[in-house]
Amino acid sequence: MSAPGLTIWLTGLSGAGKSTIATHVAGHLVQKGHRVEVLDGDVVRQNLSAGLGYSKADRDTNIRRIGFVADLLTRHGVVVLVAAISPYREVRDEVRHKIERFVEVYVSCPVDVLAERDPKGLYRRALAGELDHFTGVSDPYEVPDAPEVVVDSSVESVDESVARVLQAVERLLTAGRGNGRAPGLTQSRPAAPGPSSSAI
Ligand SMILES: Nc1ncnc2c1ncn2[C@@H]1O[C@H](COP(=O)(O)OP(=O)(O)O)[C@@H](O)[C@H]1O
Ligand SMILES: [Mg+2]
Repeated sequence: MSAPGLTIWLTGLSGAGKSTIATHVAGHLVQKGHRVEVLDGDVVRQNLSAGLGYSKADRDTNIRRIGFVADLLTRHGVVVLVAAISPYREVRDEVRHKIERFVEVYVSCPVDVLAERDPKGLYRRALAGELDHFTGVSDPYEVPDAPEVVVDSSVESVDESVARVLQAVERLLTAGRGNGRAPGLTQSRPAAPGPSSSAI
């Protein structure tokens, strides 16, 4: 039997670090011999979800589509990295319960730090009231209740955040060896993050 699959779902505001972390984690896992796929929100919106907008209904549809593909790949032994804002808790949890092995990573970063990064000037425009439906400023972001991993890109380096995600993933991939299941994964999550992850 092939190695068990897994979905690593990175959620967080635009610019928080989802794509960066996903790419680095993917690189490490490929080197270790895993089959890996990255589903990046920006890329998905150009093809699978082309035509969808930013209403709650469209955002939820986008996440369900990504979840559907992630589930298929996970069932076939792929380690899937999803990097998508995924602002609504309910649909994130819906996807979590569909996918047998699932790790939620909350990539946290305060809006004022993101507004300083702001490579595309989007936060500046949103904060000036010029952009509707901009998550975290003019549209909601619901912080995860119990993510398996929390990283804070305002205080951690990319390497530190990547290492934290890899650590959690390794634990699950090891636990999943044998019967292809990670017993109790969704029932017994790790304890709440410590003070270094107090942004949650
Ligand atoms: N700990 C960290 N994790 C991820 N990105 C970080 C971190 N610290 C700083 N950054 C920087 O933040 C930016 C994140 O951009 P990106 O990955 O495109 O965000 P997102 O995909 O969430 O919109 C990059 O320029 C990255 O170098
Ligand atoms: Mg991105």
